[in-house]
Amino acid sequence: MKLYVIVPLWALLALTQQAPSDDKCACELTNSEKAFPHDKLSGVKENVSKCNSNVTPQKTMELESLLLGLDRRLPQLLEDVSLLEREDDGELYGVISLQVIENEMREIQQLMERLNSTTLQHQRLTAATAEQLEDLSAEMQDLETYDTSQVMKTQQANQRLKRDLDQCQNGQPAPPPTHPPGNCPHGQFVNITEPRVHTAGEFPGTYKYGAWGRDPKPEAGKESWHWLVMLTVGEKFSNYVRLYSSLSSLIVGVSKPGNIQISPSNPTTNTIQGPNVVIYGEALYYNCYNQDAVCRFNLTSKTVTTVQLPKGTRFNSKGNFCHLDKCYLFTDLDLATDESGVWVIYTTDQDFGNLVLSKVEEGEPLRLGQTWHTSVYKQGVTNTFMACGVLYATRYVDKLTEEIFFSFDTTTGEQKFNLGIFIKKMSPNIQALNYSPVDQMLHAYCDAFMVSYKVLFEEMY
Ligand SMILES: *[C@@H]1O[C@H](CO)[C@@H](O)[C@H](O)[C@H]1NC(C)=O
Ligand SMILES: *[C@@H]1O[C@H](CO)[C@@H](O)[C@H](O)[C@H]1NC(C)=O
Ligand SMILES: *[C@@H]1O[C@H](CO)[C@@H](O)[C@H](O)[C@H]1NC(C)=O
Ligand SMILES: *[C@@H]1O[C@H](CO)[C@@H](O)[C@H](O)[C@H]1NC(C)=O
Repeated sequence: MKLYVIVPLWALLALTQQAPSDDKCACELTNSEKAFPHDKLSGVKENVSKCNSNVTPQKTMELESLLLGLDRRLPQLLEDVSLLEREDDGELYGVISLQVIENEMREIQQLMERLNSTTLQHQRLTAATAEQLEDLSAEMQDLETYDTSQVMKTQQANQRLKRDLDQCQNGQPAPPPTHPPGNCPHGQFVNITEPRVHTAGEFPGTYKYGAWGRDPKPEAGKESWHWLVMLTVGEKFSNYVRLYSSLSSLIVGVSKPGNIQISPSNPTTNTIQGPNVVIYGEALYYNCYNQDAVCRFNLTSKTVTTVQLPKGTRFNSKGNFCHLDKCYLFTDLDLATDESGVWVIYTTDQDFGNLVLSKVEEGEPLRLGQTWHTSVYKQGVTNTFMACGVLYATRYVDKLTEEIFFSFDTTTGEQKFNLGIFIKKMSPNIQALNYSPVDQMLHAYCDAFMVSYKVLFEEMY
């Protein structure tokens, strides 16, 4: 007897399954369409454009992310299916391989359902313009070039070589290669893009305070994992990290590994206090509950180690980020990652409330490295992040705009107070900001939304 199970995957695959006879299970997998369905994707895009009069920028951004997720998943699925076909010994396919593919298809289906419901929502919306969609279309192209940005780098390197060669031919010695302060491999931080990802994630609107991002130093095989920490007790505490195997899983809210719990009760010793946490090298760095100390929770061994901050460090909501007369509670310690590892940003009594920055040395035992003292008052700052050894601080401008106004270069000690780089916000408050040195994205957690921006660097010669 033959039982046909057709998976509604844009007729991409027809999976034929034969009922088990005796102890054998034979499956026949027919790939009805080999190539990645770019035409289908552009069909969807076309259809999306048709509803352009009903689309808001937020919603289209979510669509973009979903499409991007699909764009990445489908080729992977096809590859796995052809691998399975190659494994075929004539009548028996590996059960494990089949499960992997079933999982992939389930995730793709979830993506598509989400895409479908997002599209349906669009049809009900009213507002926005065709212009916005054109922008997004350009952004989509931009996104598609992500993976090939190596090409750009090589071109730049070639140009540099060519110029040096020209100078050589003209009898001038080539200038020694100069690196911007902090030895930044990308050049100098000049601007950030409009939001690239904007999503309510798995628990829309439920947790107003939190942080999300990507481990810059993941274990092999976990390179595309993303993490999410939501404060589950008011704006104060949390006791777990939630992991997603990819950006699109985070967007559609499918958490494969699920929660990694620090402690079953909350709050208690080692509870996460405040939203400004980061993950680096498979460990979560955060402000420990009721302490002027940095905690490191090892996600593998599930153990916590701590390092004490200097005497006089303000904690328990006494050294917060603020704007106007509103402060963000329990933001005494801001953990950050960049190309060189983990940092902690805080303030002390002896610094009169100005920002202080210390390198966190991730080894065993956990300890503080060098410390720098800035002249910017923490209460005039809404958040901070690090990129290439430079500390950046933001301030609130209005509901739609936040400004990256301040920088402190740890290599030169130089401070700048008027950077004038503007962040386009999708909601009024930023609870956490952190920079991912892997892909140069700036991750923001804003009033229960997850938003990210691409940091733009410029090579300086
Ligand atoms: C686009 O919409 C048309 C009609 O509205 C439909 O026939 C077509 O299948 C859609 N294309 C895709 C790829 O969804
Ligand atoms: C999209 O959603 C509508 C309404 O829920 C449903 O009727 C339709 O079958 C869905 N389409 C797909 C491709 O899942
Ligand atoms: C920075 O980027 C924003 C958003 O893409 C853009 O509107 C703005 O003009 C840029 N600013 C500079 C100085 O390039
Ligand atoms: C976490 O624990 C594992 C297993 O004990 C260990 O191999 C790893 O080095 C630890 N990571 C950190 C960052 O301490």
